[in-house]
Amino acid sequence: MADSVQFQTIPNSNRLSDEARAQLIAEPGFGKVFTDHMVTIEWTEDAGWHDARVRAREPFSIDPASAVLHYAQEIFEGMKAYRGSDGAITLFRPEENARRFNQSAHRMAMPELPEELFLEAIERLVAIDAAWIPAGEGSLYLRPFMFANDVFLGVRPAKRYVFCVIASPVGAYFKGGAKPISVWVSDNYSRAAAGGTGAAKCGGNYAGSLIAQAEAIEHGCDQVVFLDAAEHRWVEELGGMNIFFVFDDGTVKTPPLGTILPGITRALVIALARDKGIVVEEARYGFDQWQADAQSGRLREVFVCGTAATIVSVGRILHSGGEFLIGGGEAGPVTQDLRDRLVAIQRGETNDQFGWRRTL
Ligand code: PLP
Ligand code: COI
Repeated sequence: MADSVQFQTIPNSNRLSDEARAQLIAEPGFGKVFTDHMVTIEWTEDAGWHDARVRAREPFSIDPASAVLHYAQEIFEGMKAYRGSDGAITLFRPEENARRFNQSAHRMAMPELPEELFLEAIERLVAIDAAWIPAGEGSLYLRPFMFANDVFLGVRPAKRYVFCVIASPVGAYFKGGAKPISVWVSDNYSRAAAGGTGAAKCGGNYAGSLIAQAEAIEHGCDQVVFLDAAEHRWVEELGGMNIFFVFDDGTVKTPPLGTILPGITRALVIALARDKGIVVEEARYGFDQWQADAQSGRLREVFVCGTAATIVSVGRILHSGGEFLIGGGEAGPVTQDLRDRLVAIQRGETNDQFGWRRTL
């Protein structure tokens, strides 16, 4: 059972050469390049968590009746390992990902994974694939996930699961790097409703967001902004990021938790802003008010944040009724300062005043 799970490292004769790896990580983009290994841990009703392996990255063999393929019982996390300027490899608040993973597991009627096992799986993968962590601006994106692997078509929580971690060297999420992005406000699709799965990081939420994201792309935008399901009025979040608003009186607002993903970067941004004496309100903000505040000049900056994206400002907003700019389409000083401070802590370029780094 959990507290006696021992990791086994299976020899891997298929590692890429140093030259091939160096070429792949030179300009990795996002989520296209993968490392040599993965970690898997199995769960069954009888044995609990067992069979933890660090092994060559390879395809799974899945039965066509496997529950995840039919009922989408699947959750995941997103986190990064960094190579600091001093060469040290660090993770950034991985305990928060472990905790949120278990909150997602609970919501999706899946077994929770002991935090120490989650952390050990992450650390073992980062250690064995450390050569894949890009230097400089890049990082190693880690994708822990769990899926139902029961061979059964009845609708009930599965009795068999696989937990896995894969890793991908990444650069910037958006092709423009840190340049302001444009967003499309969806007025016909919502991401989540009260009582639904919005706060869980489950694959189904993303499947449901794709048509709205495709609309955003059709309108020439980088990302979609979702409004609430009940009134189609209150700003919630983007397809893969949380959102913040900066006003002319220096205050900052972000939508409250509930139906949105409780972003780990969101919590860091709130802490970093408050540390600077900025008043941060977690409160509902209507899209009608957003337009009015942009027009009056009361709204100075808008930015989005997430593990993949870090902090990026929003320059242009499109919606079915037209479009408008924020800050003339340029990144503002509050966004820039928060981004610089966050990146400096993540990369070990400044004192870790909040104790957020975990060095391997
Ligand atoms: N909201 C959604 C829907 C996301 O997919 C993400 C990314 O993980 C976030 C917000 C930001 O969360 P975090 O900062 O924990 O990466
Ligand atoms: C992340 O930021 O880790 C996510 O999962 C979001 C996705 C857009 C990559």
